[in-house]
Amino acid sequence: MSIQINYKNNGLKKSLNNLILFTDEKFNINHIKKYISSAEFSYISDLLKTSDLNKNLFVFELNSKKKIVLLSIKKDLKNFEIENLGAELYRRINFGKNSRYLINSDSVINKNENFLGHLLHGLKLKSYEFNKYKTKKETRLIIIDVLGNKNKPSVYNKLKFKALEEGTFYTRDLVSEPGNVLHPDEYAKRLRLLKKYGLKVNIYDEKKLKKLGMNALLGVGQGSIRGSYIVTIEWNGLRNNSKPLAFVGKGVCFDTGGYSLKPAKFMEDMTYDMAGSATVVGLMKNLALRKAKINAVGVVGLVENMVSGNAQRPGDIVKSYSGKTIEILNTDAEGRLVLADALTFTEKKFKPKFIVDLATLTGAIIVSLGSEYAGLFSNNDKLSKQLLDAGEKVEEKLWRMPLHKNYDKLINSKNADMQNINYVGGAGSTTAAQFLQRFILNKTPWAHLDIAGMAFSKYGGALNSGGATGYGVRLLNQLIEDNYE
Ligand code: BES
Ligand code: MN
Ligand code: ZN
Repeated sequence: MSIQINYKNNGLKKSLNNLILFTDEKFNINHIKKYISSAEFSYISDLLKTSDLNKNLFVFELNSKKKIVLLSIKKDLKNFEIENLGAELYRRINFGKNSRYLINSDSVINKNENFLGHLLHGLKLKSYEFNKYKTKKETRLIIIDVLGNKNKPSVYNKLKFKALEEGTFYTRDLVSEPGNVLHPDEYAKRLRLLKKYGLKVNIYDEKKLKKLGMNALLGVGQGSIRGSYIVTIEWNGLRNNSKPLAFVGKGVCFDTGGYSLKPAKFMEDMTYDMAGSATVVGLMKNLALRKAKINAVGVVGLVENMVSGNAQRPGDIVKSYSGKTIEILNTDAEGRLVLADALTFTEKKFKPKFIVDLATLTGAIIVSLGSEYAGLFSNNDKLSKQLLDAGEKVEEKLWRMPLHKNYDKLINSKNADMQNINYVGGAGSTTAAQFLQRFILNKTPWAHLDIAGMAFSKYGGALNSGGATGYGVRLLNQLIEDNYE
């Protein structure tokens, strides 16, 4: 299945094409008269008389060649509600053979000047499928012609929507790849290719990481036959030296748990344990594609948490890049070890305005928030507010969770500066966040997003059809657009 959207500035007024038309919430259809014949009009009004109008849209089959889709638009729809409507539209036209629809932008009766932009954005996001490994692919093509006019383009900021879609799809592609394909070596190789968008990519391999002293990260990857990496991706849209915004991602390409082995059931889900990193990568690609007027840096830690004769043991003690020592009580609490070094490194090297990290860090966040909100942990109220607001706007929601020194105490260790899990007290997502906070050394505003419940959806959500969601790309893009551009 693929969807193609053509933007045109003139065309047939009355065509044989299927039409997508709009009405108010009461399905008042007087103003669609000029787009259809009078026979078609009376056919539709008759059918509407006997229909349950508690719906968002109707599809009328006028004859074997012509369909009319009628969308009802409520008055003060928020942008994300328009996007959800686009997704619903996609569900209703995604069947049968190839088809072609016409939208005349004059027929839109909504005061949001970018109504069509958001509608088509939602439709596009919903249409994503990962079918790379299907040997029989569906070949259906849906074409949508969008008719604008000279005075008014049909969609404002088309390039911005497109960049955001491509960024989100790149994140979804990476998250969808199985562990045997997207291991750290392959991942680092693919990230090098981002140079072609004008991003500056630096790859730190094991040799370099050892020299720098990133033993927390290296310990996680030491059981794997693949390498471990830190990759930095820089976007300098301001052409000056102003401090960048920093985004850090957990990139555990596969998480077996290590010697603290995970049970077989659901272990296969751990191919998406690199979703935090993929979100950072998709965001950076989006920023480059839309030439965002900011300086930003993405930093991802890429490792594979495996079992082998050389793997890390429970009880091992490592010295992190910060100099602090960590007792590894559970090799399955590995994400925080990767992030610990990545966070200190990011703060020291880039001296950013803020750091936002993303990670599928704990199963406990799924217990608390399910698949509705990601957990937000932060040392800064202003940054938190900006993130919460951006999340509401694009409906990638966040819920702020507590940090407190009494939780922090729970990860003190007898044998080292700290241990990587707590044995008492519950609050598994918070103690993980407390652990991360110990690696922010210079009070940089920092927020940690635990996206374990959000990155992957078994059943599909408003703007995805199941699988990798790309959660976070649109959220962080909104954060940047609203506050830093
Ligand atoms: N990657 C997992 C967290 C996870 C679980 C992500 C389910 C997505 C779905 C993480 O590395 C992990 O194993 N965390 C442990 C921490 C525990 C050992 C303290 C967990 O949540 O059980
Ligand atoms: Mn784990
Ligand atoms: Zn993990």
